[in-house]
Amino acid sequence: MLCSFDKIVRISQKGDGLFKIEKISMSGKEILPIIEGGKGIAVSNGVTAGNWAKFGGIGTFSGVNADYQDENGKTVIPSYTGKTRLERHMEMIKFAIKGGISQAKIAHDIAGHNNGRVHMNVLWEMGGTGEILDGILSKAKNLIHGVTCGAGLPYKIGEIAAKYGVFYHPIVSSVRAFQALYKRSFHKVKELLGSVVYEDPWLAGGHNGISKAESPDIPEEPYSRVKKLRKVMRDFGLDHIPITMAGGVWWLNEWKDWINNLEIGKLAFQFGSRSLLTKESPISNAWKRLLVHLKPGDVALNKFSPTGFYSSAVNNNFISELETGSKRQVKFSSLEERDLDAEFVINDRGSKVYLSSNDMEQAKKWIGDGYKVALKTPDNTLAFVTEQRSKEISRDRGQCIGCLSACRFSGWAQNLQNNILDILPDPRSFCIQKTLQAVAHGGSVENNLVFAGHKSFRFSEDPFYLNEFIPTIKQLVERILTGF
Ligand SMILES: Cc1cc2nc3c(=O)[nH]c(=O)nc-3n(C[C@H](O)[C@H](O)[C@H](O)COP(=O)(O)O)c2cc1C
Ligand code: SF4
Repeated sequence: MLCSFDKIVRISQKGDGLFKIEKISMSGKEILPIIEGGKGIAVSNGVTAGNWAKFGGIGTFSGVNADYQDENGKTVIPSYTGKTRLERHMEMIKFAIKGGISQAKIAHDIAGHNNGRVHMNVLWEMGGTGEILDGILSKAKNLIHGVTCGAGLPYKIGEIAAKYGVFYHPIVSSVRAFQALYKRSFHKVKELLGSVVYEDPWLAGGHNGISKAESPDIPEEPYSRVKKLRKVMRDFGLDHIPITMAGGVWWLNEWKDWINNLEIGKLAFQFGSRSLLTKESPISNAWKRLLVHLKPGDVALNKFSPTGFYSSAVNNNFISELETGSKRQVKFSSLEERDLDAEFVINDRGSKVYLSSNDMEQAKKWIGDGYKVALKTPDNTLAFVTEQRSKEISRDRGQCIGCLSACRFSGWAQNLQNNILDILPDPRSFCIQKTLQAVAHGGSVENNLVFAGHKSFRFSEDPFYLNEFIPTIKQLVERILTGF
């Protein structure tokens, strides 16, 4: 059988023989070194994770506001009735726990006992992370072998993992981030560090960890960054801990120079975008079809996420509206200044501010074109939007469930007084909860945020997907193991 753990995968190497991809020990078991990247909301789930584990790798379900199955096996998408934002936030935590436990059970049932491993993915910067992890792991720690956690610096993830005896797998995009995490807290829970996931911030789908010192336009090669990461890990006595390479991984044949390379050491590979396109994947047929036809340049980095992080998504209508919207803004001052001396009354009845005379002309033109509502941004600019968009912004903020620890769009802040961020909410951003829930449950792939990795165009070039072929997870795992 293909996925027995004794299997050693052979890939031809430059025509001069064969080399091996060997099974690797991770989260307490010998597994194939191939991992399903966790994808929220409700994109990688119990079914996909269970199947990746069943066929010998690691499956990762998303523990971010996951759907749950009711007693009749029906999938339920959480909905919220709380009157205040805080009440809805508390409801959200309860549902997230229920959803995470539900997906863990599904994954466990599918995977069976003797196969690969099941991981759960969470975002450190989601709202209520600690409570959600506690809630899920206290009930399902025997079903979950590891927790992967990125988006921010998850200082406490080791401590939480230790409480339940599960492995933790921090996701980092730089050596500096890992050093900081290790020195501050991970060194205390060395024994449960399952792997370090290096996620290439210029290639991976979803949120990207490009730091202030780095440029979104100047990608750095992953090899030297991962080599440095391994050196630092060696210095910390972590030579035996695998590094998982994530971002842009397609054919393992292209990673020959990394495999069995002492500079890199123990290695596994994570597949985010590639694992979206399987029969078991719960995304809509429209999303699957979109993936198969992507071309180079159709996926790009943007900075609109309410988390404040960069993210990588398909350049669709949703992104282009954010892009054009962000161009429709002008600088203002509350006091008259030398170059800002044209008086402008916000929305004809609000406060007086001052614009430059050129911007005043521009503002009048936008108003004439239907972008009648001026909204203040945290950068001392006025953004001009239609009345419809203005109502949508108010409605989305009014339905906020506090899904992030801090949200630039609504101004929600979990840990600040009155749960309010100390800067103005930003109308140039959006409610990520709303759009990711929508697209995960069959919503438009044009008018919602569609995260994807930068190499997703390879679906259209890879003969495996010819004639819109969509493999099962078993077929995908088998294919990956051929090296292609
Ligand atoms: C649709 C989508 C959603 C994602 N959501 C998450 C997430 O919730 N948490 C996370 O840590 N990574 C998330 N990722 C990143 C993947 O887990 C993975 O690391 C990344 O996609 C790897 O790059 P690749 O797409 O080039 O394979 C997401 C990626 C995609 C494409
Ligand atoms: S407004 Fe922000 S915090 Fe509130 S639900 Fe939407 S994304 Fe989450």
